[in-house]
Amino acid sequence: GFPRALEAGLAREAALCGPLVAGDITRNLIAVFQASERARRLTVEARDGDGSLAREPFAAVLGAGVMGAGIGALLLQNGIETRMRDLDGSALARGLSEISKQLARHAAQRRYSRAETEAMYSRLTHTTALVGFGRSDVVLEAIVEKLAVKRRALAEMEGLIPAGAIFATNTSALRVTEIQREARHPERVIGVHFFNPVHRMPLVEVIPGERTASWAVARAVALAQRLGKFPVVVKDGPGFLVNRLLLPYLDSACRLLLRGVPGPRIDAAAVAYGLPMGPLRLLDEVGIDIAVEVGATLHAAFGERAAPAPVLAELAGAGRLGRKCGIGFYRHPQRGNPVWDFVPPAGMAVTAAPPANDGELADYLLDRMVDEAARCLEEEIILTPAEVDLALVMGIGFPAFRGGLLRAADRGGLGAVVARLSARATAGEATSASPLLAKLAAESRGFESLAPRRTERAPAVAAIQI
Ligand code: NAI
Repeated sequence: GFPRALEAGLAREAALCGPLVAGDITRNLIAVFQASERARRLTVEARDGDGSLAREPFAAVLGAGVMGAGIGALLLQNGIETRMRDLDGSALARGLSEISKQLARHAAQRRYSRAETEAMYSRLTHTTALVGFGRSDVVLEAIVEKLAVKRRALAEMEGLIPAGAIFATNTSALRVTEIQREARHPERVIGVHFFNPVHRMPLVEVIPGERTASWAVARAVALAQRLGKFPVVVKDGPGFLVNRLLLPYLDSACRLLLRGVPGPRIDAAAVAYGLPMGPLRLLDEVGIDIAVEVGATLHAAFGERAAPAPVLAELAGAGRLGRKCGIGFYRHPQRGNPVWDFVPPAGMAVTAAPPANDGELADYLLDRMVDEAARCLEEEIILTPAEVDLALVMGIGFPAFRGGLLRAADRGGLGAVVARLSARATAGEATSASPLLAKLAAESRGFESLAPRRTERAPAVAAIQI
């Protein structure tokens, strides 16, 4: 009869909905959502200055290259008056045309009307000279990645900008503390690290140098939020957070190649895990030369465990710099999909058994990243595992349904991570578990058990209320 059918129906509904509502994937997605809400609402107490602005901000952007143009377009879309400078007139022209292309694309997607787009573009002025910066509230520096050049640009602007302005550098790996070292007002210098492409990647790393004032941190966080990004405050250290974690992952992919695993198989395993593209494809996108540079910085800072596999240097030496020059690991035809095109020299081969299936390949790629994240927590580069997870979801497209790197590692068991790392060490790789990872594994705990304690002990950025 009807009542029975209803009961059976409800029972079936409960049986099916239960796992959906309370299952792992739901819990993972909720955790990522909560972390992103915290980042969205992150407020920083401004102790010795004004953390807020009473009027519409005025931004200066230095450098009209890949990042400068992306940041410029983002500022304009958020209604911020922007003045852009590049030393080189033709670079400036290219940057302006890139900005107008980005704004037009949004108009075409009907995110803004034509009139709105024109109003945005009308708030942009440009120059190759050092004029018109007296009203700047924030300078976003996106010029070449050279310490001396960045210091010079800072010195030039210091004479021009108002006392309450911040100078935000988009450096990938230079220490903010080094950039601010010779400044007259080091307290207002800060790292604000956007990811490429700027309009697509929601993460911004905010990096106070040793002498940055808390009001400048507050302003940088507020700016990132105003631009619709998710700010994560990280301590000044080699590679900050995301690039530091990315490198061991990319290097692990190179080591799999040397163990005889075909490149496309490695990339497919990462995609099967849920990443937007495989590590070797990503290296081609980033540029092999850039990856070699960042790798060298991290090797110099961390020694043996960050020693790069010889694969990237081999490619760079052969002029195979990735997609920008048509060939890297893959051949990149004008049209159609990239085609795998690399065989590591026989002399580099490593005689160690390769992982057997997609799951083991993914573990191999991610284990060293987990270990490096533990080191970042130990060094207080970042304060909570949830922020690590958020940063990787928002910065490299780590699959949210897995809840982020450390939640996924907790789920699989940290003991297993440690065991796999030590098996690699016996096969001749310079890996070992960090003291924190080893301790958690030995006590059968997860990163999750750390969260409250790490937030309390927050000396470097004590002003931040999460
Ligand atoms: P880019 O080479 O495309 O552009 C740099 C521009 O700065 C050039 O147009 C150059 O003429 C100009 N320039 C040099 N000195 C200047 C000065 N004193 N004043 C004004 N303009 C000057 O470089 P890109 O890729 O945009 O990188 C800029 C910064 O952003 C670098 O520090 C880089 O490490 C960082 N970054 C780059 C990412 C990327 O994927 N390309 C991602 C995140 C950060």
